[in-house]
Amino acid sequence: MSQMPPLAIVILAAGKGTRMKSDLPKVMHELAGLPMINWLLQTTEKLNPDKIIVVTGKDMDELRTACAPHETVIQEKQQGTGSALMAAMPALAGFDGDIMVLLGDTPFISVDTLESLRSSRHSAKDIGLSVLGVTLEQPTGYGRLLVDKKGFLSAIREEKDASDDERQIKEVNTGAFCLDATKTNEWLNSLTNKNAQGEYYITDIPEIAGKDGFKTAIALIKDMQEAQGCNTRYDLSQLEKTAQNILRKKHIENGVTLQDPDTVYFRHDTKIGANTIIEPNVYFGPEVTVNENVHIKAFCHFEKCSIGAGTTIGPFARLRPGSDIGEDVRIGNFVEVKKSTIGRGSKISHLSYVGDTEMGENVNFGCGAITVNYDGFNKFTTKIKDNVMIGSNANLVAPVTIEKGAFIAAGSTITKDVSEDALSLTRPEQRTIKDWAKNNRKKKKK
Ligand code: UD1
Ligand code: CA
Repeated sequence: MSQMPPLAIVILAAGKGTRMKSDLPKVMHELAGLPMINWLLQTTEKLNPDKIIVVTGKDMDELRTACAPHETVIQEKQQGTGSALMAAMPALAGFDGDIMVLLGDTPFISVDTLESLRSSRHSAKDIGLSVLGVTLEQPTGYGRLLVDKKGFLSAIREEKDASDDERQIKEVNTGAFCLDATKTNEWLNSLTNKNAQGEYYITDIPEIAGKDGFKTAIALIKDMQEAQGCNTRYDLSQLEKTAQNILRKKHIENGVTLQDPDTVYFRHDTKIGANTIIEPNVYFGPEVTVNENVHIKAFCHFEKCSIGAGTTIGPFARLRPGSDIGEDVRIGNFVEVKKSTIGRGSKISHLSYVGDTEMGENVNFGCGAITVNYDGFNKFTTKIKDNVMIGSNANLVAPVTIEKGAFIAAGSTITKDVSEDALSLTRPEQRTIKDWAKNNRKKKKK
């Protein structure tokens, strides 16, 4: 598309989203942890436009911050999608090219589709604009496309203004337009609000352009998920499913094995290296990095942590914020790690809590052993150097340091530092009384 004129993109996002019953602007609701508006911004950035302008309402500072560095304008009164585009026009004064208008509540439109919308606007000389349509089995709620004999769009009829016959039409408006910038102001000035909702509809433009001698081309979406909009919280839940499917597909294409993709939940920012295997029912919270060749067994939960190459985690493991797990580590079932670094080759195989800990390499942290990091007021650090062996069910009461190669006997409660290669244990000596149990049973029988 080398001869294409300059491109400006306007995203309409001033609507309060009343049907969401929310304090947040609609487009600030998150999908896989990223606000809806940012999904759309990421896509539009890939088109390399000259400008991206987001139309917001008053009192939407949070939204304006989320859009930065892109320009935002305020639509003072929410009088419809046409008036929203009018609010952006001063920011486009003197702009000569294509204006692509997108709806902020339709986040999964693809780069390819937007390019086809744009090329259909340039497919013949007398085309003044193009509209992105989709065919829906359930078109209720959408503006219907009225098509002339030559396949051009003669008008868009909003649901509330449509006749019974027009409501049967299944080709609908997705809300995306590509308009000739030099004509747009003139067409907008011809809009009226004489319709069922008393609003200025951007969807009246095709009819107005027609009277002006310009045709409206239709580009059709092939993949339904791209047309998915958000008006209610139910719609939001359906968009979340789509976001998850997009992310699952991305990781699979990058060489990650998902044994049951539908049960693994990602964040938009999850990073996973190739050849990693993820079993069913795994949840990724924010800021998780997993390196190559990791094996994540079923039912794990991760937040703000990193996992080194070759490591095995789970089943049923929880890595909390600040966990930095090294290479070739083994974290087994019912293990919780928080704000700790675990060195290469160390093993925490069963039923442990490790918090505020610096653990060296090749440490064996026995079954049921824990760090005691909190005294009810403050958190303290535990340091475990290379090649230490921590016996089962030991309590390491922080602050405490276990030097290299030391051995902590099972069941010990360690409150003082342990020197290199030493054995440390805190338990009464074992006493065995011969035949005590047998005699006890005899006594009970009498
Ligand atoms: C709109 C279209 C409809 C289309 C549907 C696709 C119009 C009149 N109707 O209907 O043809 O099938 O989208 O989803 O365009 N907005 C503003 N300012 C306003 C009003 C809306 O910025 O004054 C923004 C909203 O924030 C939203 C978008 O425009 O992101 C669409 O508005 P909405 O009220 O949801 O339109 P629909 O009724 O869905
Ligand atoms: Ca909508």
